[in-house]
Amino acid sequence: MKEGLETHYLESIYNHVAHRYDLQHAWLTAGSDERGRHMVVNHSVRPGDHVLDCGSGTGSTAFLASNIIGPEGKLTLFDLSDGMLNVAREKAKSMGVDKRIIFQTGDMINLPFADNTFDTVLSTYSLCPLFDPARGALELYRVLKPGGQAGIAHSAAPSNPILNWLADRVEDLVWLFPNISIGCRAVSVLPNLQQAGAKLKYHRKIGVPLWPFEVFVVEKPE
Ligand SMILES: C[S@@+](CC[C@H](N)C(=O)[O-])C[C@H]1O[C@@H](n2cnc3c(N)ncnc32)[C@H](O)[C@@H]1O
Repeated sequence: MKEGLETHYLESIYNHVAHRYDLQHAWLTAGSDERGRHMVVNHSVRPGDHVLDCGSGTGSTAFLASNIIGPEGKLTLFDLSDGMLNVAREKAKSMGVDKRIIFQTGDMINLPFADNTFDTVLSTYSLCPLFDPARGALELYRVLKPGGQAGIAHSAAPSNPILNWLADRVEDLVWLFPNISIGCRAVSVLPNLQQAGAKLKYHRKIGVPLWPFEVFVVEKPE
């Protein structure tokens, strides 16, 4: 696995690409990013939930969750980049839901929330750029209530060795252009969560052959 980019550098990259991020990510993933967001939300979020979307970016996943939680639910969008959160704010305003949402900037490696706070924690493609994805995943798990669910999607390595070799070469090339790679690389965090006691409820691999995504939901036992 490539070493992650330094956090301040990552922040400046996301601030720079914020206004074109949705289009760029959808194009590079052939639209499978949106499929992963729907899978994560549909299998983890429940009406009335208190939801944290971590590394929420422009809010694509959070807004899907807001349709399910309804007026009784609570939604926090948390991200490193003010630029990405500003785009999310503009979208929320145009949808008339901005008053119901908390927007918070910070680093998901050290979440500023107490243990066992949220019913559902979401992370779509936000563990991929972290310098320590396992630590990020365990932070998500820490702030989840017992009985709550974490819905996660991230880039994964192709299981076919030839495709994996090819994917590494493509990644090397794309990483020469940080505004295109946006610091994302294949990661693996499910084993770390299971070691912490998480129970796997749902698991799929989707995406294009060279850039697959792992999509899963885990529950924190009561
Ligand atoms: C690939 S984007 C994913 C955004 C969104 N979740 C989606 O589904 O499109 C990664 C997001 O993670 C955020 N991010 C990267 N490192 C972070 C960190 N250490 N703490 C919080 N957010 C971070 C970036 O600012 C960016 O918005």
